Amino acid sequence: MAVDRWSPESWRSRPVAQVPSYPDAAALADVERQLAGFPPLVFAGEARKLKRALAKVAAGDAFLLQGGDCAESFNEHSADNIRDFFRVFLQMAVVMTFAGSSPVVKVGRIAGQFAKPRSAPTEKQGDIELPSYRGDIVNDIAFTPEGRIPDPRRQLEAYRQSAATLNLLRAFATGGYANLENAHRWMLGFVKDSPQSGRYQELADRITETLGFMRAIGLDPESHQELRQTDIYTSHEALLLGYEQALTRVDSTTGDFYDTSGHMIWIGDRTRQPDHAHVEFARGVKNPIGLKCGPSLKAEGLIPLLDILNPANEAGRMTLICRFGSDKIADHLPALIRAVEREGRKVVWSIDPMHGNTITAGGYKTRPIDRIMSEIRSFFTIHRAEGTYAGGVHLEMTGKNVTECMGGARAISESDLAGSYDTSCDPRLNAEQSIEVAFLVAELLKVERQARGLPEVDAAE
Ligand code: PEP
Ligand code: CO
Repeated sequence: MAVDRWSPESWRSRPVAQVPSYPDAAALADVERQLAGFPPLVFAGEARKLKRALAKVAAGDAFLLQGGDCAESFNEHSADNIRDFFRVFLQMAVVMTFAGSSPVVKVGRIAGQFAKPRSAPTEKQGDIELPSYRGDIVNDIAFTPEGRIPDPRRQLEAYRQSAATLNLLRAFATGGYANLENAHRWMLGFVKDSPQSGRYQELADRITETLGFMRAIGLDPESHQELRQTDIYTSHEALLLGYEQALTRVDSTTGDFYDTSGHMIWIGDRTRQPDHAHVEFARGVKNPIGLKCGPSLKAEGLIPLLDILNPANEAGRMTLICRFGSDKIADHLPALIRAVEREGRKVVWSIDPMHGNTITAGGYKTRPIDRIMSEIRSFFTIHRAEGTYAGGVHLEMTGKNVTECMGGARAISESDLAGSYDTSCDPRLNAEQSIEVAFLVAELLKVERQARGLPEVDAAE
């Protein structure tokens, strides 16, 4: 296939799925012009640093934790929300770092995750049919004819909110809040309050002993910056291509294009057609790229996508985010792994156990945590059998105490869902369920470590 010249707008001459139809083209053009003049949200150097970190994941020397809201919302933009997410994310990372004895690369679905692909272009309530909600960057969740009209000014608001969120995340990450001992103390609070605390106690105790030992030999956060600070990166689905194009800039150091709306962007399961606009846009920016892999992606389709998106086979460039469903993963994943191995492609394999496990119960879209855990387990088992590395997890989660996914230590049932069902799109793990998932991943990483013949991590060593 002849490859045409890429430019930030070359996607415009390709077919494009999931686009909103803006009634006012002049207003849209004006917003895109304004955005193109705004400062970048992230620096190219940071995206390169993330790519290097992901290259380590691809090599089996680190683990990727990616997570956050299905859709960020303009209404829920409080410091508390961001702080609670960050706290939970750090706790998860501590547990997983310890169990895997390797670095955890932390990537939020945050500071830009506003645009949503939809299965149906319209939504019907009673006799009324309106355009579907496509995320706060496009239209309003309120089911009214005016609300559902795509409004380009929302892109300016999404940019502003992304900037403010990122600013606070950076402050938390470097200003002392991310201190390892804090994260550990929060995690102990979780373990104490969990109805299943017995299951988590042993690992928690070992982390406590290790930190005590480190402090005793002078490795404490007061004197060691790396124990006080952390790196957290941002990511979102690059769906609304006009917005992404407006934030795409040439990096003066390398002359390469970077999409500066976030560190990592991904291509959704509904927009990965190789000759369409989303793949065309992503191929030309140098950021780390995620690709959602659902049941309709076959090995014959995956390799050409890797050819287009990562022709140089650069490690850290591609993360394959698998989202088959707990009952389908065993039918689909092995063939993809074998094709990637046969072709010698360097990728990060990550599991999104959310999007293939959505059901409706009591009138709510929900996800049973048992299925989520089951798909994660299968992901590790399959990689072990294939001799490849299960490198990451991709979760829809919040730091709040919502009731959107069923199950977990507090056994959220169908009748509990109505209690705090707050998501503007898909059901998220709440704070406790997220940490429970992190403990599961920790167990699997430990088994993985033993299988690879790496030494047991033990505080007594
Ligand atoms: C998502 O990540 O919110 C999403 C829509 O995923 P997918 O493209 O895998 O369906
Ligand atoms: Co989602």
